[in-house]
Amino acid sequence: MGQKIELPDVFVEYRKMQLLYQSALKEIGTKLEILNDEFKFVHCYNPIEHIESRLKSEESIVRKLMNKGKDVTIENIEKYIDDIAGIRVICSFTPDIYRIVDMLSAQDDIEVIKTKDYMNHPKPSGYRSYHMIITVPIFLSDRRIPTRVEIQIRTVAMDFWASLEHKIYYKYEGNAPEYIRTELRECAEMISYLDSKMLAINEEIRGMDVKEE
Ligand code: GTP
Ligand code: MG
Repeated sequence: MGQKIELPDVFVEYRKMQLLYQSALKEIGTKLEILNDEFKFVHCYNPIEHIESRLKSEESIVRKLMNKGKDVTIENIEKYIDDIAGIRVICSFTPDIYRIVDMLSAQDDIEVIKTKDYMNHPKPSGYRSYHMIITVPIFLSDRRIPTRVEIQIRTVAMDFWASLEHKIYYKYEGNAPEYIRTELRECAEMISYLDSKMLAINEEIRGMDVKEE
């Protein structure tokens, strides 16, 4: 056993930061689970299929700061990176996405910093999702710290598209051949059509349930 080594400040600061963002993921994860459970109780179906969460890796934090031309410091990480804590919420149907957005935004401890509606305004790539940057307060022993979380909300079908497109993007380092990009845009259209068809079928079935009651 070696003697106990004092960690340099930067490591201590980084660990504190990780603790904070990890806690924010837990808080938002729990809020989403509660909303889903309540919704299931009241409406007999769950808007959320599943939830994924992750802390941004050191490597990708450094890469993002370098791309922005910033020095790698704790201050710059906190100032320039919105998605250290990231949660992805996968829903069955498009209206569920806006339901989740409205329910979360209405909670008075959550502050919505920024939203991007790539559902109504898809990216040129064909990407669809709803993004929110919010803060949630984390209560430490002596302080309350509003902590940022990036939430991406999308349907199962949009998630299928985004994960394939992401793999292709990485494989070609952002320079996929034009025919592949065209095919992906076509797939994005098909997925959007699929989402609206599935929603229509679901609503039809639910309408029948009501009539039978
Ligand atoms: P980043 O620098 O990537 O964070 O982009 P940004 O700050 O402009 O934010 P934006 O909301 O556009 O994107 C944030 C995240 O959404 C990305 O890190 C991806 O996870 C996802 N995303 C955005 N655009 C695309 C896309 O075209 N394809 C896929 N697969 N994912 C995307
Ligand atoms: Mg971002």
